[in-house]
Amino acid sequence: GGSTGATTGDSGGGSDKLVMGFSQVGAESGWRTANTKSVQDSAKNAGVELKFSDAQQKQENQIKAIRSFIQQKVDVIAFSPVVESGWDTVLKEAQTAKIPVILTDRAVDSPDTSLYKTFLGSDFVEEGKKAGQWLVDQYKDEKGDVNIVELQGTTGSAPANDRKAGFADVIKADPKFKVVASQTGDFTRAKGKEVMEAFLKSNADIDVLFAHNDDMGLGAIEAIEGAGKVPGKDIKIITIDAVKDGMQALADGKINYIVECSPLLGPQLMDLAKKVVAGETVEQRVVTQETTFTQEQAKEALSSRQY
Ligand code: AHR
Repeated sequence: GGSTGATTGDSGGGSDKLVMGFSQVGAESGWRTANTKSVQDSAKNAGVELKFSDAQQKQENQIKAIRSFIQQKVDVIAFSPVVESGWDTVLKEAQTAKIPVILTDRAVDSPDTSLYKTFLGSDFVEEGKKAGQWLVDQYKDEKGDVNIVELQGTTGSAPANDRKAGFADVIKADPKFKVVASQTGDFTRAKGKEVMEAFLKSNADIDVLFAHNDDMGLGAIEAIEGAGKVPGKDIKIITIDAVKDGMQALADGKINYIVECSPLLGPQLMDLAKKVVAGETVEQRVVTQETTFTQEQAKEALSSRQY
């Protein structure tokens, strides 16, 4: 069933390739760049014709892109929703047009899960918990307060909501852990630097920075050095992603711990897309496998890092 255009070749050119419309969040981070490359490379390898659209971190652009994919009668739509809410209408439009939708990387909060076939991506709550657990272990003998500042990801995004929640859930076990400031840095290096500068001005005694991604952490390192402090020593830093620049900073001792979030979703996405278009049932949720890195582990892993 579905869109016969791709198999009968009646859409011009006689191509029988599966056509995927992919709406990407943007190019806000090293993670995102690696994710885009993974999707594009995997489409090529899988013989999938990819219609790629960059939303520049704006939901309205993603909605426009999805509507345009519907109009073009693609076989399958995949997208990484910039924020969690506000997708029901456009997802219903895709459903009415009988075009299957796959969520990649980020979730939507629509109660109607029939609006998408599957959700492929990380468990962001778990990532936040791993970050919190490292802190709890690291400071287990500390008697005084541990003052934490938090750089959140894009406001309303699944990774920002979930990482914040997972982290808070673990550190609440001990009241000595105090989140003294928490603001969005929009997952970018520039915003991470800017917000960290403000944190440093208004908080004399910061022990720990928890940044929801490497890029914000890397921006914050510049702010910390600019304030005459030593990142990784005066202020301990935990980040999420494990992209190359982050891993380098970890190996150099400027970051203390990184929780991995894998951007290499392309191969699994193409696999799922083929199954979904063929009418096969797939798992509602496919969770990405990931690990964590200490400074020592980063030194070892660095040379074999693909992104
Ligand atoms: O949704 C995944 C997050 O988005 C990554 O952790 C972050 O770097 C990216 O911008």
